Amino acid sequence: MNTELGTNISKAAALLTADELVAIPTETVYGLAGNALSEIAVSKIYAAKNRPSFNPLILHVSGIKQLSKYALVDSVSALLAKEFMPGPLTLLLPKKNIVPDITTAGSNKVALRVPQHPLCLELLHSIDFPLAAPSANISGYISPTTAAHVAAGLHGKIPYILNGGTAAVGLESTICEVMHQKIIIHRTGGISANELQRVSALELVLVNNQKSVETAGQLKSHYAPNTPLYRGDIADIIARNSGKKIACISFQKRYDGVENFVLSPSGNLAEAANLLFATLRLVDAGNFDLICTELFPNEGIGPAINDRLGRAQFLYK
Ligand code: TXA
Ligand code: MG
Repeated sequence: MNTELGTNISKAAALLTADELVAIPTETVYGLAGNALSEIAVSKIYAAKNRPSFNPLILHVSGIKQLSKYALVDSVSALLAKEFMPGPLTLLLPKKNIVPDITTAGSNKVALRVPQHPLCLELLHSIDFPLAAPSANISGYISPTTAAHVAAGLHGKIPYILNGGTAAVGLESTICEVMHQKIIIHRTGGISANELQRVSALELVLVNNQKSVETAGQLKSHYAPNTPLYRGDIADIIARNSGKKIACISFQKRYDGVENFVLSPSGNLAEAANLLFATLRLVDAGNFDLICTELFPNEGIGPAINDRLGRAQFLYK
């Protein structure tokens, strides 16, 4: 299949209406989109990404009015939606029957978000169905923040990539769910815990939905470069690996004896988040023996950066 890259919304809409897949830009990362109400389109998403069929997909809609078409929206979720949508927040809600089981991998809950990207919103307004869209990478690899990243993984597998430039946030949406008068954060992301707390006084509970990654004996990394990545005290990692070709991904500081990739010399976490995935891809293509990195400050989007780097770590079998 020939993969075309362009900015033609009506072409993208026509393909999606015909149950074909289109990679779409969002403010977080690029998504691999198909008609969320079509079992044919959704099964093509799982196949193109090599994604296990038990891993459910997020529905992307054009505005908060659309949420109640596909899910039951409680009052706190409605408040969060009003405040943060469009934007990098995904709400997990009880699903309505109109959403096929294959889209939610059999779950009776559905994840919904309104992306904040002009091309993507224009596309969503031009069609009359929601878009199921996981990140547009081959399952397990680093999420794409440019159209070129999408093409690197999915060229030949999808007909069209809608080119919306570089993703503004660069990390995936925060996924949360209001349950028993608490806000459960299933994945840290573009909206910080502080921002959520500003809108709702409910207790925030962070759940680690990737426990398997930490389980001894399992090699189940996500967002992972092929080059081994170690996180810790950078000077220490460098000292223990003398003679090796090392790429160092740090927040602010440069180190001797390595190739430095400083994500934000001025100490801006949003800037670091924005560069993280592109830097991981760049470094992974650079023939390094290993990547070393560190813990980022645990504020704002910092926890989301730390979460993604944690999952990118090299794990022994
Ligand atoms: O920023 C984002 O959220 C990007 C852009 C493209 O919108 N999308 C994205 O999708 O990151 P994906 O599929 O790569 O990650 C979505 C996560 C998965 O871990 C999935 O398990 C979880 O959301 N998820 C989706 N639907 C769910 C559901 N019904 N119940 C529980 N978890 C769900
Ligand atoms: Mg993903």
